[in-house]
Amino acid sequence: MKINNVVVIGSGTMGSGIAAQLCNANIPVTLLDLKTEISQKAKERIEKSRPPLLIDKSKIDGIKVGNINDDFNIVSEADWIVEAVVERIDIKHDIYDKIFKQRKKGSIVSSNTSSIPISVLSEKLTEDDKKDFCITHFFNPVRYMDLLEIVKNENTDLDKIQKLKLFCEEDLGKGAIVCNDTPGFLGNRIGVYAMQIAMTEAFKMKLTIEEADAVFGRPMGIPKTGVFGLYDLIGIDLMADVLKSFIKELPENDNFQEVAKEIPLIRKLIDTGYTGRKGKGGFYRMNKVDNTKILEAINLETGEYSPSQKIDIKSEKVDLLKLINRGDKYGDYAWSVISKIIKYASSLVPGITDKFNDIDEAMRLGFNWSRGPFEMLKEIGVSNFFEKLDGFENNKFLEELSKSKNEDFYGERQKYTEIETLGKIKPKAIKLDGNNSAEIYRFNDFNIVEFTTKANALDYDSMDALKKATDKPLIIINESMQFSAGVNLTYTMNFAEKGDYSSIEKFVKYFQDTCKELKYSKYPVVSAPSGLTLGGGFEVLVQSNFVASHTNIVVGLVETMVGLVPAGGGCKEMLWRWSQTEEAKNDPDYAPLKVFDIIGYGKTATSPVEAEPLKYLLPENKKIMSRNSLLNVSRSILEENKDFTPPAEATFKLAGKPLKEKMVKLLEKLYNDKVILDHGMVVGSELANVLSGGDTTIDKTLSEDDLYKLELNSFMNLIETQKTKDRIKHTLSKGKPLVN
Ligand code: NAI
Repeated sequence: MKINNVVVIGSGTMGSGIAAQLCNANIPVTLLDLKTEISQKAKERIEKSRPPLLIDKSKIDGIKVGNINDDFNIVSEADWIVEAVVERIDIKHDIYDKIFKQRKKGSIVSSNTSSIPISVLSEKLTEDDKKDFCITHFFNPVRYMDLLEIVKNENTDLDKIQKLKLFCEEDLGKGAIVCNDTPGFLGNRIGVYAMQIAMTEAFKMKLTIEEADAVFGRPMGIPKTGVFGLYDLIGIDLMADVLKSFIKELPENDNFQEVAKEIPLIRKLIDTGYTGRKGKGGFYRMNKVDNTKILEAINLETGEYSPSQKIDIKSEKVDLLKLINRGDKYGDYAWSVISKIIKYASSLVPGITDKFNDIDEAMRLGFNWSRGPFEMLKEIGVSNFFEKLDGFENNKFLEELSKSKNEDFYGERQKYTEIETLGKIKPKAIKLDGNNSAEIYRFNDFNIVEFTTKANALDYDSMDALKKATDKPLIIINESMQFSAGVNLTYTMNFAEKGDYSSIEKFVKYFQDTCKELKYSKYPVVSAPSGLTLGGGFEVLVQSNFVASHTNIVVGLVETMVGLVPAGGGCKEMLWRWSQTEEAKNDPDYAPLKVFDIIGYGKTATSPVEAEPLKYLLPENKKIMSRNSLLNVSRSILEENKDFTPPAEATFKLAGKPLKEKMVKLLEKLYNDKVILDHGMVVGSELANVLSGGDTTIDKTLSEDDLYKLELNSFMNLIETQKTKDRIKHTLSKGKPLVN
């Protein structure tokens, strides 16, 4: 069975997301709703969505639309029919009745339900039809959330499930995990339980919401939204509905019941319109006082708001053992939450799945945790865990483990997929070296560098690891959400605040030297980005010899936004790429002016398709839907380039002063139109200086080193200005650029 044609019924949030992802995979898809106008509107929403659901907007007409009355015959052509209508069993039953009358024999029918069991969904189907029915539980937004739970029961044809799984993995790029038909499946069962535990323990232990979020966040390898922040993001009212459904579906003696009960404060928030970010606010809210916006946090005891306090629990890296043994309230809270999550998750094995490993992966893919409960247990250590634990009951998994005390209980990772992922390779590889910012692994005859900082921001250590790793073919890849958000601005600012500019200069120089080594060392270097690939992150990519890019990337040179210019070779490489065009052959100013426009505006692309016209990526770079396959594709690139020779050094002919004047004219126009302000002129002029070649004339030849020097010089001029520092500080504290 091949899936060449899909019908999605219900064009709301999920249906449109699923249709868009099918369109991304070039699979013909029809989106049906009650009325064609509704599915047409959905298509418009897809087109306007931010972050974009489509990799290539020009392909939007790969999605056909229609309604369930006039256009239902299309179902007879579909290999897979996905139902994503409202969560109402009567409506779903009616739709299945229609689908199974119309569908072609052997096609797969699935529901995107988040809470109705297969047994109930399929109760009216014939035994034969039940074989072809399952749940495909996608997460929102479909393009960006990697988890897909494929839920089967005893009636489902497992062969078919396997084929569907492969399709969803390879073509749709999902981390597809097959699991049993139990409430909330894997991700939500554990994820929502974890949120409820984190919340109820914060109440019990009298932590403020900022304190709870500071612990149940990065220090635990959980996204920084924490628990209360995540509640606000999901919607407090929606969470209440989710909990009601868990209370209804789960047995009375399930430990979830204890923490699912409605809390009076939550009822009050919902009743007063505080439903989270989409409403007036939630646990956090933005309040305007004297015309300035202030982030406020709720007091869990009184329900009053006051300005939110920044809590820093001084835990830069995830170190669970250290965290739970801090001996203060944060440590106690962390232990209480972590131990309960581990107890609950392990109590569900083998009921929800017989592979505990899959629960960890579901948390990783669906909730962006960097490790799941069983990995947490492994990291804490089996004996350490049981020494601290006050007991457990009705838990076969822990019972056995407490007897065996097997510290190596975990075994392999990512058993759900056949693909040889980075997660699978790492434990088999030799860890050659590591520092605070990166790790180097050797596997067979190549090296892997994985950045390990927050958002994989780059510093001296990151460069050091890259430099050391060029003694073999190298793949730069990682498992976290971002390839790299760029140079670590906090690190740079710390020097700038002290007036220690020579350390900054040394770092930038080292950055350049390292990138040069990536490009010209005798072994090939492959970058395999996913997520943010900005600024310095892009400079690493652009000076790698090969690229295997995930289709979910945000790529670009954004230095000007923080009052700087790219100084790790970004200007140089972009100049080179644009100077290879036909237009550049006839007009020596063409390339520099193009690059001036791109870097000056800090343009970014949200997919490889958008990146190519800007030349952030090239047609020959590999583009891959399945993130899990990035390592494999990178390996095959190395395999194909066994007789690699480094590229010839690039040279540049730039017009110097007259070209710079052209650029400054453009800046003046922007300044007069108030698009840029004083410092925009300063930054723009420095960029113009680099891209025009500085003190040169068109007949002179500039080397890559000359351009590196110009970049460094302008970077240093700018970092010393107060207004660049203001921009950096603003970006670091507010997360958005300052126009000054
Ligand atoms: P939604 O409310 O955004 O969209 C539902 C769509 O179904 C609407 O466009 C509606 O017009 C259409 N519809 C209603 N009756 C229909 C009928 N008889 N025939 C055809 N279309 C009909 O809902 P959403 O959020 O997209 O949810 C869809 C399903 O996905 C639900 O089962 C939900 O539980 C599940 N789900 C939702 C998630 C989310 O984050 N929103 C996440 C995972 C699953």
